Amino acid sequence: MEEVQQDGRLESKTLSLLVVAVLACGVFLIEYFFGHKHHAQEPPRVPSAVPIPYLGHMIGLMRYKMGYYVKLSAKYPLPAYTVTTFGGKVYVVNSPELAVAVFRSVKALSFANIAATVVSRISLSSKEGTEIMLKNATGEEGDKGYTVEGFKRIHAALGPGPGLEQMTTLAAQHVAVNMGKLKPEKESTITRIMLYEWIQHLIAVATSDAVYGPMNPFQNPEVESAFWDFERNFTTLLVNIMPALTARRGHIGRERVNQAFEKYFRQEGHKSGSALVKARYEVADEYDVSLPDMARFETTMAIGILGTTSPAAFWMVFHIFSNPAVLEDLRTELGTALTTTFDKDGAPVRQLDITRIKGSPLLTSTWHEVLRHSACGTSARLVQQDCLIDNRFLLKKGNVVQMPSRVSHINPSLWGTTVDAFDSRRFLKQESRKPGEQKLQSGAFRPFGGGNTLCPGRHLAATEILAMVAMLALRFDLTPASGYWVKPTPYASSVAAAIYSPNPDIAVNVKPRKGYEGGLWTFNS
Ligand code: HEM
Ligand SMILES: *[C@@H]1O[C@H](CO)[C@@H](O)[C@H](O)[C@H]1NC(C)=O
Ligand SMILES: *[C@@H]1O[C@H](CO)[C@@H](O)[C@H](O)[C@H]1NC(C)=O
Repeated sequence: MEEVQQDGRLESKTLSLLVVAVLACGVFLIEYFFGHKHHAQEPPRVPSAVPIPYLGHMIGLMRYKMGYYVKLSAKYPLPAYTVTTFGGKVYVVNSPELAVAVFRSVKALSFANIAATVVSRISLSSKEGTEIMLKNATGEEGDKGYTVEGFKRIHAALGPGPGLEQMTTLAAQHVAVNMGKLKPEKESTITRIMLYEWIQHLIAVATSDAVYGPMNPFQNPEVESAFWDFERNFTTLLVNIMPALTARRGHIGRERVNQAFEKYFRQEGHKSGSALVKARYEVADEYDVSLPDMARFETTMAIGILGTTSPAAFWMVFHIFSNPAVLEDLRTELGTALTTTFDKDGAPVRQLDITRIKGSPLLTSTWHEVLRHSACGTSARLVQQDCLIDNRFLLKKGNVVQMPSRVSHINPSLWGTTVDAFDSRRFLKQESRKPGEQKLQSGAFRPFGGGNTLCPGRHLAATEILAMVAMLALRFDLTPASGYWVKPTPYASSVAAAIYSPNPDIAVNVKPRKGYEGGLWTFNS
């Protein structure tokens, strides 16, 4: 007995010595093979929370996603710093003036190559599809290629003009009709809903109807729910190690949405869709992307379209309805966008003017404040040539720049002592600033990124969400079933999330607003 124990102790001692030796060797080898020389002018390196070279930061990133950079930046409040990982260096750029400098360096710092890599990986596109996606993505071999050309067409299709107007009109129509279904059951005066579930579905179908037209695959609830499975497992699917096992639901969901898009393109659904999906089809066709790959790329595109607008709409509704003073102010402001007439039977017809809603100063300020609180996105860039930004920091070719917007959005030196508060007038005050009053620094507010990759979907997202919230505020009263509004915890659903998701959902009672019951509600445009 005694001997065995001694043996055991000896064994475990030898074992731990061995482990230490292997680790030491490992660190030495890593330093030898991956060790990147650090130039004095590069942003300073910072240590990881878990004190293991290289691996430490990777553990932090897997655990907290992009939130890791927010945590690290709180600990090291530097204008820019370097994080070293196996794959190379990541320059985390935080100060607004440096962010502006990064946005300006369009040739040396590019997003397209990162986007192409992520999209082909998360899409599980074919070998040929991946090659087409990656070809000339750096723009260095000439400004042509599916990725670079594709982005150009997307920006054009989503910019102000008839294409965008058609999309916002369709989205608003969908919202008006489906909000009307919030009628209380007979014998009751209220309707009970789960707020996020309801908004997520309303906005996801409204937005995808606007983009994909009458044959929109997301009209099928099974496809929509498969999509959310895919979205929730994004990070694991991006790692892409045996996805059918490590992220089963997301993997199955992705295949289901792929099938639906393949059918959509085969039946030429895009021909009756928006300028956006037409442009996407045309450019894919020009570059010989196969139909199955086209479908796969569209499934991933849907992450950017649906994964952002639904949670943003939720936070907008939450902040307005949980704050009676804000709701009252907005109802007053939005009242001027509402015209009531009566049909031949004397029933009210209420029309909301989208142009007026878009031009409402307080509603717009509230939207920006909601984005400041809920944006968790980052602008990523690949360093394509060594460059000096703001004449201060050297960025070396092959490394990555990350600019998490949240670090700026919660910085008291940029927003003042009320930084943590929700102030629906914060951006209004910016507009009506008196001379001498502090101006918001350019580059400090960037929920949609910036530079030449500034989110092209921001007009569509803003218009449809403002229209939805305006109608909801004028038409209904919302009260939490528990009696109190409790703010759900915001969390990033994946490394690609640009807006936090709420958790848990809130049960809410919906009642038509007094004096505004019944009648037909519409938007004009
Ligand atoms: C509230 C909603 C949204 C938010 C917060 C958001 C946020 C962002 C962010 C942070 C970026 C990266 C910008 C950069 O690299 O600097 C981006 C890019 C992009 N977004 Fe959005 N987005 C939203 C809605 C949409 C919608 C509705 C669409 C499409 C209909 C869309 C399409 C795109 C595209 C195509 C890009 C890539 C642009 C490029 O690289 O040239 N987004 N978005
Ligand atoms: C990539 O760039 C090269 C050089 O400018 C050009 O010859 C080629 O056609 C481009 N490829 C594609 C797919 O656009
Ligand atoms: C995948 O998503 C489902 C919900 O759809 C979730 O329960 C599961 O934990 C996720 N798995 C991973 C690995 O992200």
